[in-house]
Amino acid sequence: MRSQPTVAPPSEDKRWRIVTATMRRHGFAPDALIETLHSVQEAFGYLDENSLRFVAGNLKLPLSRVYGAATFYNLFTLKPQGEHACVVCMGTACYIKGGAHLLAEIAHHFNLKPGETTPDGRVSLLVARCLGTCGLAPAVVFDGAVAGKVEPEALIGRIERWLNHEPG
Ligand code: FES
Repeated sequence: MRSQPTVAPPSEDKRWRIVTATMRRHGFAPDALIETLHSVQEAFGYLDENSLRFVAGNLKLPLSRVYGAATFYNLFTLKPQGEHACVVCMGTACYIKGGAHLLAEIAHHFNLKPGETTPDGRVSLLVARCLGTCGLAPAVVFDGAVAGKVEPEALIGRIERWLNHEPG
């Protein structure tokens, strides 16, 4: 059981101490994930990529898993905050395999850029720097579920269904 964090907090903000204390209480074990995300949310009001990366690194979990939990449970608020969240990976492997093209398609079809939410509040678009599942490149997290080798048509179709209130 570890007692020290292995990844430094994203900033000097003292609130990270609360988050680190939560992980320490659990010996930085992976099953502290939900409780740790709770403490981030309580301290900051939302979860963003830096905080998810910090938690993933210290709990030795793939970032995809942490994004998965953060987008699956309604009690967590991702920033930006839409009813649905689509996280496109733009790490090196995913970029090479078409991640940038996926973002371009989303911008083209929905006029939606990373960090934005559709005007109706239905869909937020986020980017990650590597979800830790490079073998699945290009990878996208749809509301908590990691999808691999994502084709533009499938991605656009999924977002359209979200916008039209159809099942994902
Ligand atoms: S670069 Fe996308 S999962 Fe690693």
